[in-house]
Amino acid sequence: MSTRHFLKDDDLSPDELIEVLDLADRLKADRARGVLDTRPLDGPKAVAVLFDKSSTRTRVSFSIGIAELGGYPLVIDSGSSQLGRGEPIEDTARVLTRQAAAIVWRTGDQSRIEAMASAATVPVVNALTDQYHPCQLLADLQTVREHKGRLAGLTLSYLGDGANNMAHSYLLAGANAGMHVRIGAPQAFQPDPAILEQAWALASDTGGSVSVTTDPAAAVDGTDVIATDTWVSMGEEGTKDDVSVFAPYSLEDSLLGKADPQAVVLHCLPAYRGKEISASVIDGPQSVVWDEAENRLHAQKALLVWLLERSG
Ligand code: CP
Ligand code: NVA
Repeated sequence: MSTRHFLKDDDLSPDELIEVLDLADRLKADRARGVLDTRPLDGPKAVAVLFDKSSTRTRVSFSIGIAELGGYPLVIDSGSSQLGRGEPIEDTARVLTRQAAAIVWRTGDQSRIEAMASAATVPVVNALTDQYHPCQLLADLQTVREHKGRLAGLTLSYLGDGANNMAHSYLLAGANAGMHVRIGAPQAFQPDPAILEQAWALASDTGGSVSVTTDPAAAVDGTDVIATDTWVSMGEEGTKDDVSVFAPYSLEDSLLGKADPQAVVLHCLPAYRGKEISASVIDGPQSVVWDEAENRLHAQKALLVWLLERSG
């Protein structure tokens, strides 16, 4: 058996994505009735969870999820490890792979997690890179399914920084799920053309579609799901001091009013009220952001179970 990794959203095929989401729903229902009997990490086996960047949700949900699967979460801030002093990523992978059942890593450029996976013989999971945030998308899609009953055929609109990790993951994961993904972003912050092209290719197989516009009202017109994210991602602090270009994309009641009246609002969090989203929207009745944050736990548990089952 070869090792399965989850480095970007389309590392799961459309059918595999649904398998993971179905498992996430089952694990969530089990947990709600006090049953935690899916324990592939019993032993306990350790999962290394490494952070090169800050985190609340990812750290908490992987730590609790790994423990609930019977395992031991070994959470390491890279700054306190030799990785932070320049030890080669591949050497780190070789060491971790001998002792841990899986490696979860939040880092910078996507090439870094690809390097980790290239030298690891246990599953490697992307817990956010500059280019993608695929674990977040599993939780987002689980949340949308809970509230809308389906994914394929729904329209998902993302507003704000179209060139960041969340925008790219919405494109790939949404297309993988057969959704119609619309990105509303300023001209200077449009998605990476190569990722857009990949999303197009995926969508043509799943019956979904992708589109990009600079017009925020057009992006959300009649949509089923609206998502947004911070205008200044981790690592961009000090390089994006003027965020005025994003102001028209701020998710306020006037923009939400153009969506389908039953539309739900997503935000991966942390949120900056008064910037990318108004307090009235994120704290309002159409917001499902707390379900979304909780579902990180269930979706990532499902992902780990699924990857461990398929890796030799
Ligand atoms: N959404 C998300 O990944 O949150 P953290 O940065 O707190 O992990
Ligand atoms: N785009 C944001 C997501 C945070 C979860 C960032 O990279 O900082």
